[in-house]
Amino acid sequence: MKDKLHVGVIGAGRWAGFAHLPGWKRSPLVELAVVCDVDVERAKARAKEFEVPDFTTDYEKVLSRTDIDVVDIVTSGDNHEPLTFATLEAGKHCLVEKPVCHDYKDVWRAHALATSKKLKTKVGLTFRYAPAMQYMYDLIRDGFVGQPYVFNGWEQDSQWIDPAAPSRFARADTGDAPIKVGSLEGYGAPTIDISLWLIQSRVTSVVGILKNFVPKRLNPDGKWVRTNVDDGDIYIGEYANGAICSMQSSYVTVGNYPGIEARVFGSKGALICRLVEEFGECQVLRSATPEAVEFVQVEVPPSYFPPGYVKGESWRSLFYANLVHNFAQEICDGGQANQGNFAQSARVQEIINAVERSHRERRWVDLPLEPGVGD
Ligand SMILES: NC(=O)c1ccc[n+]([C@@H]2O[C@H](COP(=O)([O-])OP(=O)(O)OC[C@H]3O[C@@H](n4cnc5c(N)ncnc54)[C@H](O)[C@@H]3O)[C@@H](O)[C@H]2O)c1
Repeated sequence: MKDKLHVGVIGAGRWAGFAHLPGWKRSPLVELAVVCDVDVERAKARAKEFEVPDFTTDYEKVLSRTDIDVVDIVTSGDNHEPLTFATLEAGKHCLVEKPVCHDYKDVWRAHALATSKKLKTKVGLTFRYAPAMQYMYDLIRDGFVGQPYVFNGWEQDSQWIDPAAPSRFARADTGDAPIKVGSLEGYGAPTIDISLWLIQSRVTSVVGILKNFVPKRLNPDGKWVRTNVDDGDIYIGEYANGAICSMQSSYVTVGNYPGIEARVFGSKGALICRLVEEFGECQVLRSATPEAVEFVQVEVPPSYFPPGYVKGESWRSLFYANLVHNFAQEICDGGQANQGNFAQSARVQEIINAVERSHRERRWVDLPLEPGVGD
C-alpha cells in the first residue's frame, strides 16, 4: 500500500465545495489527484481553490488513471448509478452521494460487484459521522440505553419552503403522474441509516405516507410546473428485535439545516442527538436515566472529532471530514470494517421502496420485499 491514497472527485458543484473537497483535503491519509466536472470552468476553479494538480471534464479520464485509488461521485442529477458501476468496473474504491440507485436491488448488485473486486464503498450518509452521533452509537453499544424500545427520527428543514426558490425537484413537470418519492430519499435516507445502525436490527414492517404540500414550483426556465413529489413524509415501523420507530422528513418545514434529530429510548436509559445549526452549535447530545429523568447534556470526547477540527465550524465540513477520513482509514487498514457501505445503503433504500409501496397501496408492507435479495 502506498503512503497516501490518491482521490479523484467527479462533480465540482456546491456540495463538493462545502463538504467533499475540504474533507479530503484535511485527511492526512489522502492526496487529491484530479477534479472532474462537465463544466470546465467549475472544474478549473475548484482545482485551484483546493490546490488539486489536475482537472478534466471527462470522468472516463479519471477512471482510466492507474494512480487513482478512490473515486468520489458528487454529481447532481440521475447519474450516480452508471458512474458507480463504471467506477467499480475500473477497480476503484467508491464514495457516492445518495441515492446510489433508486431500486434497492440495484444497490445490492453494486455491493456484490464491489465485494467481488475486494473494493470498499461508502455512501454520503453524512449524519452518522457527526461526532455526537458516533459517540451516541458507542454509548448504546456499551449498554447505556439497555434494550432499545423506541426510535424517533427526523430530518426536516426549510430549504425549499419557498416555491419560487431554485429546486432540483422543479426541473420536470410531473403533470397528473402519481406522487414520486422526493424528501424521503433525498432527506430521510441518512436518518433511516441512523435508525438501523443505532437499533442494530432489521426493519420487518412499515406503514407510511408521502405528502405533496407545495404543488407548483418555479423551474430554471422561469416556468411554474406541477411538482408532484413528496415534500413531507412519515412512516412507522417494527424491528426484528422488538423495537419500534417513527420517522419523518421534509424540506418545507421551518427549521435550520441539517435539521436532524435521533432519539433512542430503552430499558435503562435514553439518548437524544440533535444536529441542527443553532446559535453557533451544530450538534448536541443529551441523556437521561430512570434515576435522573431530566435530560442533561453529554460532552463528546475529543477523539470523536476529525483532524483539523475548529470549534464552531459548519456541520457540512465537520461531519464530512469524519466521513472521508473514516473511509480512508478503512481502505488503508485493509480489514473488514466498512461502515455506511453499499450493503447498508441497500437496506436503507429497501425501506424507502417499502414506504413508497405502503403509500401507493395504503397498507402495511413487510420486509424483506423479495425473499433471497440482499444478505
Ligand atoms: N449527503 C449530504 O448531506 C448532501 C448534501 C447536499 C447535497 N448532496 C448531494 O450531492 C450531490 C451534488 O449536489 P450539489 O448541490 O453539489 O449539486 P450541483 O448541481 O451544485 O453540483 C453537481 C455538479 O456535478 C456536475 N456533473 C453532473 N454530471 C456530471 C458528470 N457526468 N461528470 C462530471 N460532472 C458532472 C455538474 O456539472 C455540477 O457542477 C447531489 O446528489 C446531492 O443530493 C448530499
